[in-house]
Amino acid sequence: MFKNVIVRKPAKSLIDGITSNPQLGKPDYGLALEQHASYIEALKKCGVAVTELEPLEAYPDSCFVEDAAVITRKCAIITNPGAASRNGEAMEMLPTIKKFFPDDMIEFIKAPGTLEGGDVMMVGDHFYVGRSARTNEEGIRQFIEILERRGLSGSEVPLEHVLHLKTGVNYIENNNMLVSGEFVDKPDFAKFNKIVIPEEESYAANCIWVNGKVIVPTGYPTVERLVREAGYEVILTDTSEYRKLDGGLSCLSLRF
Ligand code: GLY
Repeated sequence: MFKNVIVRKPAKSLIDGITSNPQLGKPDYGLALEQHASYIEALKKCGVAVTELEPLEAYPDSCFVEDAAVITRKCAIITNPGAASRNGEAMEMLPTIKKFFPDDMIEFIKAPGTLEGGDVMMVGDHFYVGRSARTNEEGIRQFIEILERRGLSGSEVPLEHVLHLKTGVNYIENNNMLVSGEFVDKPDFAKFNKIVIPEEESYAANCIWVNGKVIVPTGYPTVERLVREAGYEVILTDTSEYRKLDGGLSCLSLRF
């Protein structure tokens, strides 16, 4: 169960965030703010306390807080984001993490290691880590070393096409995993009950489980149906403006 969620209000500079999909256009800032508020309401319906951080104009992508830290039941890990324009977001997250964790429960990924939290998928006490353009071999080595020192485990998943691991695969508890594209046949995930997302709805592979409910992006009816059929209560929330920056539901919060 999650008790807490950390989010960061989008800055006006959001419109200049990194994107691999410029053809979708720039986000509408006003609409992005509305969607962020709805996202927070959806989280509150799941029974978590939401800590909302102030916008950071210097970091256009800083509302995607998931990349700046990874929180496990044994420690919090401040990452070292591989995207140069995002690297400073990790240290901006540290004061907030310190409000929840004592110093001896806070770890750091250090250069030359890089790691972004979007590449980390928690399945109980095991953490799958995507090796991506943002998360490198040394970052994964450090991350798994930290996990193992604390009685947890991790394993690397090489990525071929997606930005982050959780762009294409997400665990929604009870052995159920949403998989799309390159993750459908990966041996790493063979033991799970795979819910295969059709290509045209691949964006919605990025759903989040929060205390028994699953938050699904608005506008993906097949994924919504598949998640309901798997037995979950679904909460829909629109993330169209974040999609324009390759961002999804998981990217917008730290849940712990
Ligand atoms: N725009 C989100 C990212 O590229 O990290």
